Amino acid sequence: MKNEQSSNTLLCITGSIAAYKSADLARLFKKNGDNVRILMTDSACEFITPLTMQAISGNSVHRNLLDETAEQAMGHIELAKWADTILIAPCSAETISRLSSGRADDLLGAIVLASKAQIYVAPAMNKNMWSNTATQNNVNSLQSRGIVFIGPSKGEQACGDSGYGRMSEPEEIYETIKMSENKFLNGKKIIITAGPTREQIDPVRFISNNSSGKMGFALAEAASKSGADVTLITGPVSLECSNKILRIDVKTAAEMYVESKKYITDADIFIGCAAVADYSPVIQNQNKIKKSSSKDMQILLKKNIDIIASLSREFPDKKFMGFCAETEKIEEHAKVKLVEKGLDFIVANDVSKKDIGFDSDFNEISVFTKESHTHFHKASKNLLAVQLINMLSKNNQSIH
Ligand code: PMT
Repeated sequence: MKNEQSSNTLLCITGSIAAYKSADLARLFKKNGDNVRILMTDSACEFITPLTMQAISGNSVHRNLLDETAEQAMGHIELAKWADTILIAPCSAETISRLSSGRADDLLGAIVLASKAQIYVAPAMNKNMWSNTATQNNVNSLQSRGIVFIGPSKGEQACGDSGYGRMSEPEEIYETIKMSENKFLNGKKIIITAGPTREQIDPVRFISNNSSGKMGFALAEAASKSGADVTLITGPVSLECSNKILRIDVKTAAEMYVESKKYITDADIFIGCAAVADYSPVIQNQNKIKKSSSKDMQILLKKNIDIIASLSREFPDKKFMGFCAETEKIEEHAKVKLVEKGLDFIVANDVSKKDIGFDSDFNEISVFTKESHTHFHKASKNLLAVQLINMLSKNNQSIH
């Protein structure tokens, strides 16, 4: 029976060492007051017992497609109709492949075919299995059918490898789903800048910085999942984004400014996560500057336009969230930038630390407004991005 007050979540567990994290996931949904039912494949039962999941969810675990007792209580069609949300976590490469083919010879396959619920998949597998073209083709096929992927994350794997394939942390999965369900930013247009800029000295040399674009891309994905119409203006990075996001590739600060100005007119929110070069060479040599054996080289630099400060002055009706990369006196510098750049929020991070900030998959941030200070402990950039977008969403009423 569907309870109108709370959400019905069907958590499906498949065969992966990450299955132990499903217990935490079920707990998070229960804590939120959701009704939780559990489906486990045979392989999942090799990693975590149905008894554990039954105790956490408060319901007996669904395992078989053809089960006389289940048919009387809740058969596959009824279960498919009951669910508002279906989450497959962890989802193995085998399950992704089966779902992509539309198989209906087990309970999970049949439910996925029969249900109108929003389906989320949190993959977990070896990094080579994840990057294999066969898996990626299956993922594309499922995404084109509206299934939303959360992760996988990068990191150490149970098999000893390191790379993309780890199941995302339960909190990230949970928060992403809740944000997607609420779609607080539906109809809002957001511009996000990401990555470094590259200021050419001559055809072979440039001035740039260590930004990888990870934080900005994570924000773009989170904002898109929250229902926003996202334009991502990025400097040179080696990242990909989902095809719902309008991606504009630029190189220099000047190009980033031109594109930002072009798209901001009908936007509601601007997030400046890019590490924009503050200076660029006055002269860009057309030919490679020859090395002189006797003299040092001097390059005269000119100040670049401050993109976010200039836009916030010109478009005071929009919301502006800036980032602040510092190596000392972080709070002090962040508060000055908040005011000087005319921002509504500034997200400060310490880029002197090796395990967060530039190029890391993790960050630790403090968000300042004129009235408040919120600290987010070290976490994956994906989770922090979801939390930042949630914070902006809560401010939604004041976003015109
Ligand atoms: O890309 P990653 O490897 O994931 O790393 C993430 C990050 C460390 C780059 C990110 O979290 C971050 O801190 N980005 C802002 C970096 C930066 O340029 O900080 P800043 O303090 O110099 O600039 C303050 C704000 O002004 C930023 O919003 C920046 O985008 C903006 N700015 C700066 C200079 C300029 N000419 N124009 C701008 O708009």
